[in-house]
Amino acid sequence: MNRQVPNIDLTDVYDESFTGELEVYRRFVTVFINQIFIRHFEKTGLIQKHSFQELTNLDFHSSLTAFHFTRKILEYYLDKGDLQIKEDGYLNIVRPIEDDDPEDRDLDDFLAKHPEKRNFFGILRKIRDVAKEVLFEGQDALLTLANDNFRQAMQLWEDLMLNARVKRPCHQLVIRAMQDKARQGKPLTIFEGGAGVGSILRDGLKQPEFTNVLEKIERYHFTDVSLSLIKMGRESLRAQLSPEVFDKFNFKVANLDKLFLNGSSFTRKDSLDMIILEHVLYDVIDLDATLKLFHQILKPGGYLVFTMAFRSEPKSFFPFEYLQSTFQSYNKARLEEGYRNNVGYLTLKEWENSLKRAGFEDFEVHPAGEDQVQWPYGGILALPSK
Ligand SMILES: C[S@@+](CC[C@H](N)C(=O)[O-])C[C@H]1O[C@@H](n2cnc3c(N)ncnc32)[C@H](O)[C@@H]1O
Repeated sequence: MNRQVPNIDLTDVYDESFTGELEVYRRFVTVFINQIFIRHFEKTGLIQKHSFQELTNLDFHSSLTAFHFTRKILEYYLDKGDLQIKEDGYLNIVRPIEDDDPEDRDLDDFLAKHPEKRNFFGILRKIRDVAKEVLFEGQDALLTLANDNFRQAMQLWEDLMLNARVKRPCHQLVIRAMQDKARQGKPLTIFEGGAGVGSILRDGLKQPEFTNVLEKIERYHFTDVSLSLIKMGRESLRAQLSPEVFDKFNFKVANLDKLFLNGSSFTRKDSLDMIILEHVLYDVIDLDATLKLFHQILKPGGYLVFTMAFRSEPKSFFPFEYLQSTFQSYNKARLEEGYRNNVGYLTLKEWENSLKRAGFEDFEVHPAGEDQVQWPYGGILALPSK
């Protein structure tokens, strides 16, 4: 066991009810993926007309997102053994891919019994319904939904960020890391990147003991690339925090891809007690440069805590990046052999190598590597070696 890391306990979070949440998620998302395949790859004759190589050639596609989404769908079925590449390079459907819920009846029945999940599965269903635009018209799924009805898309997004139960371990890891830091007794300067609608703080505020954290905040840099999302987060926090605590907040647009040392009040050397990135760090273009900057701006003993899903084999993992794969922000990473082989979510090995290279020798991983196929959602808490 490492002495420096706090060893956050999440055993109460990775429990049977969480396993059940993921099972339901897998069940319905698997149906959506099959429907996308049947509608856009099989019935259209796409896989009969084009070889696997053509379909996974960047030039074939209208956008990087279309390319990665297509590639990931095909790799998912190849890994499952439902598809095979024939000698002539074309795809063969080895096992029929069925639509188990053609009219969404099972889903609607489920949602009638679980109305609290309507928005969550609503957005996943909408992604299925705009898959054609993503796959063949170069669109971003979220922007397509927002163009259709901006207010509704923003509300669905807020609900997804706040209430998606699958993200519970991610939120709890960050909240507990904040509590641990607060217990050390010193005033806290925190930078949160990609803070969006503020789901971490808003979740934390549901727990009475979170006041210990609020009391310790000296400065909280609440940042995101989207001003609209920051505004949603800010208004909710304004309504819930005392004016004294709210005054400690700095709400600011900040693009993680454009941060540099001393470029802003939150990127000064050795100045931060904590950096929080809830479901966003894998979105940066240059992971190495970003991690090295974080290493510089954290104080010795500061915490870098970030959350995501851990990548495993396509057959188990693709359902967990189905939604994100349709966003342009998810698909722009610069790859680097040995450190970052995957666009989007990384494997544990990629995180380990990237963290060590950037100077984070000490870190704890949740859940443990062997549990990540079963429970992909979690995160890492890392300390700078300095
Ligand atoms: C999946 S959401 C994370 C949820 C967020 N923690 C919340 O509570 O709303 C990803 C967030 O990261 C932001 N984001 C994506 N790329 C970014 C970048 N390069 N710099 C800063 N924020 C970014 C998005 O605008 C979005 O709010």
